[in-house]
Amino acid sequence: MTREDRGIGMQEKTRKPAFPEGFQWGVATSAFQLEGSPNADWTTWDPVLINVPQITNHYALFREDLKLLKDLGVNSYRFSIEWSRIQPRPDTWDEEAIAHYQEIIDILRSYNIEPMVTLHHFTHPKWFLERSPWHQTASIEKFLRFTEKMVSTLKNVRYWITFNEPYVILIGGYLDGCTPPGLRDVPRSLIALKNIFTSHGKAYDIIHRYVPDAQVSIAHNMSVFAPWKKWNPFDRLLKKSANYFYNHSIINAFRTGIFIVKFPFSRVVEIEVPIKGKLDFFGVNYYTRIHLRFNPLKKMGVELRYSDIDGHGLTRGLAKVLRYASRLNLPLIITENGIATHDTEMKVKYMKQHVDVVERCLKEGLDVRGYFYWTLIDNYEWLQGLDARFGLYRVDFKTLKRSPTSAATYYAYLIQSRSRI
Ligand code: GAL
Repeated sequence: MTREDRGIGMQEKTRKPAFPEGFQWGVATSAFQLEGSPNADWTTWDPVLINVPQITNHYALFREDLKLLKDLGVNSYRFSIEWSRIQPRPDTWDEEAIAHYQEIIDILRSYNIEPMVTLHHFTHPKWFLERSPWHQTASIEKFLRFTEKMVSTLKNVRYWITFNEPYVILIGGYLDGCTPPGLRDVPRSLIALKNIFTSHGKAYDIIHRYVPDAQVSIAHNMSVFAPWKKWNPFDRLLKKSANYFYNHSIINAFRTGIFIVKFPFSRVVEIEVPIKGKLDFFGVNYYTRIHLRFNPLKKMGVELRYSDIDGHGLTRGLAKVLRYASRLNLPLIITENGIATHDTEMKVKYMKQHVDVVERCLKEGLDVRGYFYWTLIDNYEWLQGLDARFGLYRVDFKTLKRSPTSAATYYAYLIQSRSRI
């Protein structure tokens, strides 16, 4: 398809990019979603994986996949290290697995692509979940041992994400129960929150000890919320609580070292965590706008409706959450943004609209330093299996063949036309 066919060519050709030199154009992936792992807790959690344990077989095909990054023209790549491959048993470090991830970094460097490494992207070694899940204090020391091993061994990494979406770990694992460890237990969720953020604070210091010029953050999922029915006071209360929890409590905690948790219809809880100032930039994952309805028959009393195509303030919502995050006075990086659809034109539209918003935010003076599209190739999606097509490249899960979609062509074009390299 030509640019003109898409009807956006002229616009692109004449525009003056607001994106500064050095802006990070990237894509984001996570190891488990591409390559599975025999020793991960999630492998036995989701029965879908029994028949496709290696998913896209990226663990073997990584060289070809990294070549796709080069074809796209990205200058950055966010990926994760699968903890359960590195430490399959508590007393075993798998040196081959470490060398595997180092090779990924070396290949990226040879392509002039800046690596951004995520240490925790939802999965754990099975032994971790069995012995010391996040509601046990011992979890902190276990995660820090893994962190120290990685930062002391892997060479040439400046950008580190300690945790991907800590709130999802807490909501899925401790409130809704849909992800490991599958609990619905408020007191334990609060202990897990303290342990996860304590781990982040301490990991921040460890990373800086080994990599003095490191750039460290978490990747936090931010969203905009709306009441299902505007006239319904319960829906409005839910909206207010969700907005506070997702978009403000975490920012306040990084500013003050105190989490203020306000569950609707319940008392306020304050939790001290050693994270004040423990960020060098702030990673924002942004996907969707969520409508909330109070419904006592649903889990946690809430029913959700997502809008991931525009028309309802979705893309404007990205600007909103970036403005919220700018209260941290730190560089902001959109560490994930994308849409699952078989309709690649829609994917192109989604991407363009969000990149346009980033450009408007830059003009407004927000310090946005990067945009990472989720994701490179179709993969395994938590709770949805193999049919959520987020990839710029399509994967045929029978033959494992990767083929570019028009969204890949368009992303390459966007990067070229909007950067000032
Ligand atoms: C994010 C998550 C990714 C991916 C994405 C698409 O919340 O970090 O791993 O699953 O959602 O749904």
